[in-house]
Amino acid sequence: MHIIDPAVSDYLLAHCTPADDLLRDLAAETMQAFPGEAEMQVSPDEGQFLTMLTRLTGARRAVEVGTFTGYSSICIARGMPADGHLLACDVSEQWTSIARRYWQRAGLEDRIELRIGPAIDALRALPAEPVLDLAFIDADKASYPLYYEELVTRLRPGGLLLLDNVLMGGRVLSSDLPAGPGVVMRRMNEIIVGDERVESVMLPLRDGVTIARKR
Ligand SMILES: C[S@@+](CC[C@H](N)C(=O)[O-])C[C@H]1O[C@@H](n2cnc3c(N)ncnc32)[C@H](O)[C@@H]1O
Repeated sequence: MHIIDPAVSDYLLAHCTPADDLLRDLAAETMQAFPGEAEMQVSPDEGQFLTMLTRLTGARRAVEVGTFTGYSSICIARGMPADGHLLACDVSEQWTSIARRYWQRAGLEDRIELRIGPAIDALRALPAEPVLDLAFIDADKASYPLYYEELVTRLRPGGLLLLDNVLMGGRVLSSDLPAGPGVVMRRMNEIIVGDERVESVMLPLRDGVTIARKR
């Protein structure tokens, strides 16, 4: 299912602040090195959206779950002040070795701390206090509800929790989904809309992005 008509999607992309040379190089290198996985990267307009939300909230303390080769982490870290801190979680040394190189080139290496290993362990090890300004979830779909719960409790009032791929290519609309990530995402979407701790909006940006703001 196309979430948005491809012509409209192209138009949106063409009328968004374009990616700079660094992000374009990162996208090209990712495509060359990992052609089968490159589509996991957030799109330029979603990246711009992440930068804008980070700036708008004045976020200094952020967490990313699912870093891959670094595109979204750069977009978030760029929106932070120089003393901002982004904890970036991923299981892959190979994919994140590219991210590290681009963080250096972007001059963001002091702002981003990479944690290799299951993200749920990194999140559970965070202090319990609600001090996070922003979090972005873009990793294994089956664990979204676990990541959501660990992060929402640690968000400060007014902090944002962003979730990618909440439409799963439209699969969440299907009434006869087999057990799997689609069912988990549908449950995730229902949990958020019924969660009194947040107010939320789901946007048809690429594969669907939810913004949940802690009350
Ligand atoms: C969709 S990609 C992230 C794309 C990234 N946000 C970007 O813009 O390039 C998902 C990432 O989640 C990571 N991942 C999968 N399972 C994980 C887990 N249990 N803990 C941490 N990271 C995980 C994968 O290694 C992969 O890099």
